[in-house]
Amino acid sequence: MFTVNENYLKLPGSYLFSTIGKKVAAFESANPDKKIIRLGIGDVTQPLAPAIIEALHKAVDEMANPETFRGYAPDLGYEFLRKAIVENDYKARNCDIEADEIFVSDGAKSDSGNIQELFGPDCKIAVCDPVYPVYVDSNVMAGRTGVYDKATEVWSNVIYMPTTAENNFVPEFPKETPDVIYLCLPNNPTGTTLTKTDLQKWVDYANENKAVIIYDAAYEAYISEDDVAHSIYECEGARTCAIEIRSFSKNAGFTGVRLGFTVVPKDLKVDGVSVRDMWARRHGTKFNGAPYIVQRAGEAVYSAAGKAQLKEQVAYYMQNAKIIKEGLKDAGYTVFGGVNAPYIWLKTPDKMSSWDFFDYLLEKANVVGTPGSGFGPSGEGYFRLTAFGTQENSIEALERIKNL
Ligand code: MLT
Repeated sequence: MFTVNENYLKLPGSYLFSTIGKKVAAFESANPDKKIIRLGIGDVTQPLAPAIIEALHKAVDEMANPETFRGYAPDLGYEFLRKAIVENDYKARNCDIEADEIFVSDGAKSDSGNIQELFGPDCKIAVCDPVYPVYVDSNVMAGRTGVYDKATEVWSNVIYMPTTAENNFVPEFPKETPDVIYLCLPNNPTGTTLTKTDLQKWVDYANENKAVIIYDAAYEAYISEDDVAHSIYECEGARTCAIEIRSFSKNAGFTGVRLGFTVVPKDLKVDGVSVRDMWARRHGTKFNGAPYIVQRAGEAVYSAAGKAQLKEQVAYYMQNAKIIKEGLKDAGYTVFGGVNAPYIWLKTPDKMSSWDFFDYLLEKANVVGTPGSGFGPSGEGYFRLTAFGTQENSIEALERIKNL
């Protein structure tokens, strides 16, 4: 009998940010006179930096000329970009990564959703709780997560590692040994991170237990503290256990342009099989490359002018983070994050549920945030605000919240 992939039917509701989008659209159409401030999804608001725009224009012109026109990109991505990545993101930090271990893609969301395809149907995944919802949802679609309990919002076959104020946002090693461990550091949504010393413990744990770490470093550019690693390959032994996913969305504002990459070291083997070769096979089969003009824009991120301009852009968002965090503290909220990441994580007041607080803030202050429970059961009772808005809106949102 012809059937659909029933795993999709197990997914509760729609994707978190689609649900929020629908709720906000409904509120907006019922209240057309209200000025809504969106600090929900972590989408950037500053335009692309001049060095990036210049590279885009130049590449567009090349596409208009028969001599310089480009068609399909090479499987792994253009060498000019992979070399720039290796030099700036890895060699400059003494990480032993080569250009043929870099796979350029259309963004970290696709890679973090697709990477699970490399692992067997029975492998067990572990996630920090709360965390970016794509990791669990993509494993649900693959049929790996067991049964969903609506009351507890827990999947029977997922190992949850609570990351809350109670453990200072440092997850403990799980009792049951996982095969695949997802770490998003700095963490989305809590905005907190681990020290390099703590990260090293996870690398050692993964090597000892023959587990693979999927390390999502999308927010790496926001790290301000010296004892935090920017790449997992700063840790000894990471080449044999870790895959790293990077994005150009948050450090360079590419959310609407789409570019990311994944690093799969040649030393990473599962059951004697090269995971790098498997990912190369998948990439070649299912993906035809990020556009040439976008890869040229990515290269500009690493130019001297690009670096200087993006440093300013990151500082702009981190100033928002400070405004939001300090403002919330003044208003009596308990707040976390916002130091090494552009997310502020707060405890909802009066033991309000995350979704009740979402409604309250939308209705009374016309401010959109993200309910913590949308990121996992341990996110209940928390709420996330993003620092990716404009400074003007961040200030106004905080004024409104203070006046509630
Ligand atoms: C978020 O708001 O959690 C993220 O920006 C969404 C994403 O990066 O896909």
